[in-house]
Amino acid sequence: MKNKFSKISKKKNKSKIICLTAYSKNIAQIIDKHCDIVLVGDSLGSVLYNYKSTRSVTLDMMIEHSKSVRMGIKKSLMVVDMPHNTYRNTSEALRNAKAIILKTKCDAVKLEGGKKIYHIIKKLIKNKIPVMGHLGVLPQSAKNFKAKGKKIVERNNLLKDAKILEELGVFSIVLECVESSLAKEITKTINIPTIGIGASVHCDGQVLVTDDLIGLNLIKVRFVKRFINITKQINTAIIKYKYEVKNKKFPKKINSY
Ligand code: KIV
Repeated sequence: MKNKFSKISKKKNKSKIICLTAYSKNIAQIIDKHCDIVLVGDSLGSVLYNYKSTRSVTLDMMIEHSKSVRMGIKKSLMVVDMPHNTYRNTSEALRNAKAIILKTKCDAVKLEGGKKIYHIIKKLIKNKIPVMGHLGVLPQSAKNFKAKGKKIVERNNLLKDAKILEELGVFSIVLECVESSLAKEITKTINIPTIGIGASVHCDGQVLVTDDLIGLNLIKVRFVKRFINITKQINTAIIKYKYEVKNKKFPKKINSY
């Protein structure tokens, strides 16, 4: 397992780190071959459950989805988001992180925040729980989703937070909606990989929500690129199926007993 982490660290300044989300076995087993990291993101709250924010996602939901994802992963490093209100203090964080690791057999957990959660991350790492950081827009606490790092104070704080996370020993940091030149500066300054989402080409890697990338979740946000419209393809297949059932072309003899 240590090997998986060092493989990712070694990619810094060499080749891009590919990260995607999965919420189920079926998607996980498709993306596993292509990814370095598969993230069970708490974005599942809005993508699958239509929640207004990720704040309503529970630990149980994360664990159940992660158990399914685990079955689809052979090679990628699997990271699970610790949902909102599951790491309010060190003992709660440790108990819940241990439960996530034990029940889902994931490799690491991801937590949102920098200096503010210093003691929480320190506790987890001291207890040998690998942690991925998350800075910039933090959906679990964000009041808005405006890009971060346009104001000088914000820039300084974000850079400081990145250095703090590095010192604490997180193995990489997701930068969400971080202004391009700041993402570049953070990536140059720290020695651990940055994984961007809406944070420019300058990060060491990129993450997207798979459902957005394939057009299963039809949202329009600046940082998402839809590489295929799978919704269209599913529609075409269902129309064909409906036609064949109605016209007694399916099931055929070979589909029957
Ligand atoms: O929840 C999630 O999917 C995430 C990624 C978008 C980074 O945190």
